[in-house]
Amino acid sequence: QPILLRDYVVPAFLLDRVDLTFELDETSTRVSSRLVLHRNPDHPVSDADLVLDGHELMLESVLLDGEPMSTDRYDVDDESLTIKGLGESAILEITTRIEPQKNTSLMGLYKSNGNFFTQCEAEGFRKITYYLDRPDVMTRFTTTIIADRSKYPVLLSNGNRVGEGQYDRNRHWVKWVDPFKKPSYLFALVAGKLSCLQDSFTTRSGRKVALEIYVEPQDLEKCHHAMESVKRSMKWDEDVYGLEYDLDSYMIVAVSDFNMGAMENKGLNIFNTKYVLARPETATDADYMGVEAVIAHEYFHNWTGNRVTCRDWFQLSLKEGLTVFRDQEFTADMTSRAVKRIDDVRTLRTAQFAEDASPMAHPVRPDSYIEINNFYTVTIYEKGAEVVRMYHTLLGAEGYRKGIDLYFKRHDGQAVTCDDFAAAMGDANGFDFTQFKRWYSQAGTPVVKVVSQFDAANQTYTLDISQTCPPTPGQPEKLPFHIPIALGLLDAAGAEIPLQLAGEASLQGTTRVLQLTEASQRFVFTGISAQPTPSLLRGFSAPVKLDYPWTRQELAFLMAHDSDSFCRWEASHTLIREVLLELIAAARASETLSLPGELVDAMRRALLDEAADPALIALMFTLPAETYLADQVDEIHPDAIRTAREYLRVALAKALRSEFKHTYARFCGATQAYRYAAVDIAKRALKNVCLGYLTSLDEPAFIELAQTQFQQANNMTDSQAALAALVELPQGATALADFANRWQDDPLVMNKWFTLQAMDKRADALDRVRALQQHPAFQITNPNKVYALLATFCSSNLAGFHRADGAGYAFAAEQILVLDKLNPQVASRLARSFNRWKKLEPTRRAQAKTALEKLAAHADLSRDVFEIISKNLA
Ligand code: ARG
Ligand code: ZN
Repeated sequence: QPILLRDYVVPAFLLDRVDLTFELDETSTRVSSRLVLHRNPDHPVSDADLVLDGHELMLESVLLDGEPMSTDRYDVDDESLTIKGLGESAILEITTRIEPQKNTSLMGLYKSNGNFFTQCEAEGFRKITYYLDRPDVMTRFTTTIIADRSKYPVLLSNGNRVGEGQYDRNRHWVKWVDPFKKPSYLFALVAGKLSCLQDSFTTRSGRKVALEIYVEPQDLEKCHHAMESVKRSMKWDEDVYGLEYDLDSYMIVAVSDFNMGAMENKGLNIFNTKYVLARPETATDADYMGVEAVIAHEYFHNWTGNRVTCRDWFQLSLKEGLTVFRDQEFTADMTSRAVKRIDDVRTLRTAQFAEDASPMAHPVRPDSYIEINNFYTVTIYEKGAEVVRMYHTLLGAEGYRKGIDLYFKRHDGQAVTCDDFAAAMGDANGFDFTQFKRWYSQAGTPVVKVVSQFDAANQTYTLDISQTCPPTPGQPEKLPFHIPIALGLLDAAGAEIPLQLAGEASLQGTTRVLQLTEASQRFVFTGISAQPTPSLLRGFSAPVKLDYPWTRQELAFLMAHDSDSFCRWEASHTLIREVLLELIAAARASETLSLPGELVDAMRRALLDEAADPALIALMFTLPAETYLADQVDEIHPDAIRTAREYLRVALAKALRSEFKHTYARFCGATQAYRYAAVDIAKRALKNVCLGYLTSLDEPAFIELAQTQFQQANNMTDSQAALAALVELPQGATALADFANRWQDDPLVMNKWFTLQAMDKRADALDRVRALQQHPAFQITNPNKVYALLATFCSSNLAGFHRADGAGYAFAAEQILVLDKLNPQVASRLARSFNRWKKLEPTRRAQAKTALEKLAAHADLSRDVFEIISKNLA
């Protein structure tokens, strides 16, 4: 049943062109396609059958070279249309009927709020018509859309609009031609009543590009930030990568029912409304950043994904890892580089390291899958981006750019592999990436252990660095990775020490990138006159777990002095994690918990450092997620984790009460009129962190502070933070009711309301979630709602979901079964909540297993859910 990378064969037929006609209608839609095909000379079998993919289609007719085909010349089954005995070339005309209005999977052609949309990646096009639905079949598309004029005034597809007119009394048509060859997964169609925000961008070679953002009419005023983000993305890609846009128009359409974030269809990107719509009153700073990043991501795909695409879906990270790296760097340039890096590392550690440690662990280039939709993962995206970042670190910005230029020179218009990318990077720089490519094939998070030794007599400082990688499914043993380790050394005053390795002729700067390629290696620095403090893995130069025995004093020292902002934050993170792990152990042993003085002192110093970036301090005070802590212990006791983390929060609040109060006041009025600007975002972040700590003290004055902020806030960042601070207090019910009352008609804002309650730490969280499913704003068919309420509860509310009585598991299983009938991709995401089950303490483990086994017993699970459940039970 699994699809294997090693089974790859080139397609038997290639396409010269395809012409599509859609007759959209309320009860059924007719799709006519005209395929001009020829045999692929590279295919091993010279008379192979033509096998077209197709799923849930009603076949009306097939014409070969203009003549109707008799039914004995082709076979139709649930997955395909097979035509035997074709010659060297053929023209096939196929007509099918589909029912988009009944399509709840949101793959292929579907309806949302009365309008038509498509989602074809990865294999949705086969739900539209019979086709060679694989990314290495690229061709030119022409698309004609016919629809009722009043219901569907806007008719969009890829490329350029070349004609339009009246079809009959009520219906009109529009014809689109996409001049670029593309695979079917980049096809898109949109039809409906949409309003458009227009602007333009002139590329550096003088092409004037019309920019159009289409949304439902009530949302038109929420598109300006998205439009600015488009223009910034276009400019950045010209400046940093030398890449220009290549069509006369660039269209973005927002849809509220969408499985993922957005989709890079050629010239016609389709977005989840969450990543388009933003106004200060309704969107938080994080939302604004999300819009900017996803707009950039999809725009950047035009080159990394569309102009050069993937040969097969095993190569998904070729486009996704690269494009995520590109959007991360864009955001770093637009906002704060250090803050962006810390945010990304937090995501990587919380989600990707967890995936690497789970039954779903897979390499950046998987070698098998059951359902490709299950592989749009943090490993493919975020770890894939780390792999691209390592090329950049190893080659330097200039060498990296040379590699990128060669990649486009060689492969523009092609469907290629991760090996082709590595080859371009290597060839352009004379660098051997052979060993480095193990990052693509070996799953699991490497552990890098560093042992240091200062030799006063010889004035040397020696680092013995070794690496190991835990086994993952199907990969018991790992070979050493090629790991770039950026580091620096600090002297006793906190100044950077210029570095020289034994054997080098001169000093070589203060940050060095060491290359670890062996299982263990020794690096000796010379001319070191006193015991230094090492600052390791600067900028998080590789996606590894670092093991170095810093003392708490050293960590506090790094927090205060490291010149690398990432490492300053990292030191605070390490210190807090160590303290939390001790507290968790103490909570499990029912010992009294206490707060170490070193931590309080270091945190106080950070909070009072008025020269520091408030955003960095805010991140230092953001405690690691419960789920992250669960991944740090050998056996998960959810209640101990919650007790320890809540203890630390309140204890820090008590210890730093006056400092938090002072800092809150310092930034409280600092951002009067809302601006989306890094300096203001930083102030709001720290202010709201302080508010969170203060309200945890349960003092009336601080609760009033939160209530005042809640009532007076002129932006969603402050309003949501105040609501979050109040939610679990007796005053929370009124605040929640006020909020719902104000925002009941704004689905994106209501998602926040659901999420906050799904994270509730009180014992009855599950009952609240169940009750909220009955709320009029909740709809099980809308992915955003399911993610906000159900997925948040099951994947992020650790102690709530992993209740000792197993009720959380039973609830998840029940919801997964309901969702699986509607939307397997969404169901499958929920099923991943079980990924940690093997590490649970025995009682919960047994209960989770029972729930998984019950699910596995259902014979009619989708491939999506089946894959997650079966791998969890394997
Ligand atoms: N290529 C899109 C992006 O990352 C994601 C589309 C994934 N869709 C899916 N059905 N798996 O920008
Ligand atoms: Zn992408």
